[in-house]
Amino acid sequence: MCGIMGYVGPREAAPIVVDGLRRLEYRGYDSAGIAVHDGTALTVTKTEGKLARLAGLLDEHPVAGRSGIGHTRWATHGAPSDRNAHPHTDPGGEVVVVHNGIIENFLSLRETLAAAGAEFASETDTEVLAHLIALEYDGDLLEAVRRAVGMAEGAYALVAMCRQEPGRMVAVRMISPLVVGIGDGEMFLASDVPAILHHTRDIVVIDNGEIVDITADGWKIEKLDGTPVERDRLEITWDAEQAERGGYPHFMLKEIFEQANATTETLSGRLLEDGRVVLEDVHFPPGFVAGLDKIWITACGTAYHAGLVGKELFERLLRIPTEVGYAHELRYSDPIIQGTTLTLAISQSGETADTLAAAGLAKERGSRLLALTNVVGSTLSRESTDVLYTRAGPEIAVASTKAYLTMLVGEYLLALAIGRERGVLDPAIDATLVAGLRGIPAKIGEALAAEEQAVVLAGRFAGRDDVYFIGRGLDHAVAVEGSLKMKEISYVHSEAMPAGELKHGTLALVTEGTPVVVVITQGDVYDKTVSAIQEVKARGAFVLAVAYEDDEQVAKHADEVLRIPRVPDVLSPLVSIIPLQLLAYHVAAARGHDIDQPRNLAKSVTVE
Ligand code: AGP
Repeated sequence: MCGIMGYVGPREAAPIVVDGLRRLEYRGYDSAGIAVHDGTALTVTKTEGKLARLAGLLDEHPVAGRSGIGHTRWATHGAPSDRNAHPHTDPGGEVVVVHNGIIENFLSLRETLAAAGAEFASETDTEVLAHLIALEYDGDLLEAVRRAVGMAEGAYALVAMCRQEPGRMVAVRMISPLVVGIGDGEMFLASDVPAILHHTRDIVVIDNGEIVDITADGWKIEKLDGTPVERDRLEITWDAEQAERGGYPHFMLKEIFEQANATTETLSGRLLEDGRVVLEDVHFPPGFVAGLDKIWITACGTAYHAGLVGKELFERLLRIPTEVGYAHELRYSDPIIQGTTLTLAISQSGETADTLAAAGLAKERGSRLLALTNVVGSTLSRESTDVLYTRAGPEIAVASTKAYLTMLVGEYLLALAIGRERGVLDPAIDATLVAGLRGIPAKIGEALAAEEQAVVLAGRFAGRDDVYFIGRGLDHAVAVEGSLKMKEISYVHSEAMPAGELKHGTLALVTEGTPVVVVITQGDVYDKTVSAIQEVKARGAFVLAVAYEDDEQVAKHADEVLRIPRVPDVLSPLVSIIPLQLLAYHVAAARGHDIDQPRNLAKSVTVE
């Protein structure tokens, strides 16, 4: 996820573009840049780091011009650096491009261009687009962009300008968002409404597969095949702060609702049409996977809970012994790790001090280190031999949601890749995983419909002091994460445990009305989980089950059921976590808490 901003009109472009980028910084902040056209030449100013650094550079070396585009980056291809920062140009500096998203076939495009003698100044997929547009340019930017994007595959939005046509911007949306703002003799373009809201409330939303041609006097939308598009304008009524959260009251809720898109991004270019799995930054040496005798997962908090799902998957699907350890414990332990161990260090930020220390210990002991992280260029990614980026985009709320879900997606992809290379993956399971993962963004969308019910149920939980979460196998792994969500933002004490463990002690705490949340999706242990429900019901518990939409049995046992769409049991964590996130969110909201910044917590724990 990155932020794009553009302006064309009678005013100086640079301050308007930089101000718009400031309002889009929630979309990415590892580097930033602008390109301004002064009527004769294009000037690019860009730098690694937050927008403040770019603003400082522009104070020292101001750029004049009445049209400009800008970008705030969340790296996906190429580490955060000056040269990878956007905008990117072709070698002649004729075309300049900013881009949000991923060009999936950029490597083959780049190789073709390189074979024809092209030289590249960055490692980004974006630069390839600048080369292609420049090569296609014959006096009409719109047509050049149209032809260039015809060669590109992926989910992205881009904006291009060219030296020969001052005052013109051409933009394309292929999934990633793009809006046009209509001013009085001036036009704006952005990834999201907040960037332009204090200039205009008159908005046109660009749809997938559309190209828009913008000058100060107007705009024209076409489909990529040239069909003209008529689009109504929208009048935005949100205030600026609301708009930054996309109209949601909190970033956490926005991020919960971004999970279908985040999952699409994580799968993009990795689970190919023909079922192949391509993990672009994972390069196990020959023989390593065949000789692997242990997977060692280390992480903290929510990332650790993603690891619990990983353990279930790797042991069940790959039959490789897998341990999950809290990084803060493992760093002081004496783990059995060697060259035939794969250490999987999971961290949204890639900066958690304990996780870095545990990962360092694994490396010292000769293990191959694979980072599963959301932040390109983070310390963990740099210290690892292999990296799988989750591509969830910046996660602002302290309570992790979309990062967790995309960590799970990363683990499913890894299971497929390793299982195939070892030749141990049952073909039927392989086919189930491939088809199931392809359909998962839509299923996540359906699972989000549980929100209405979560609001009502939250009222029942908001006044309680304790909540228990139970489940078996994969359901237990999800229950543990649901419990953490509940405690960290609602401040209601909650505990999770395997359903079979209740009777060994915790059952003593269950009395009349005690809320017990049961995740029940795994067919092979279904009856066992029902037994646990009966145990707590017999003590007066209020049971809320999370179950498939077509489960007709569960309502006979539970007091309330939060329904999730049917998916293969092995993939259930990807949907069963969603009602639990929504429940925690609405309990916290009902209790009036500062949801995005809960007390005593920080987003990244970079100290021991
Ligand atoms: C979860 O909601 C928390 N924010 C926390 O448990 C977090 O997952 C943990 O601190 C690890 O962070 P990391 O993924 O950035 O390493």
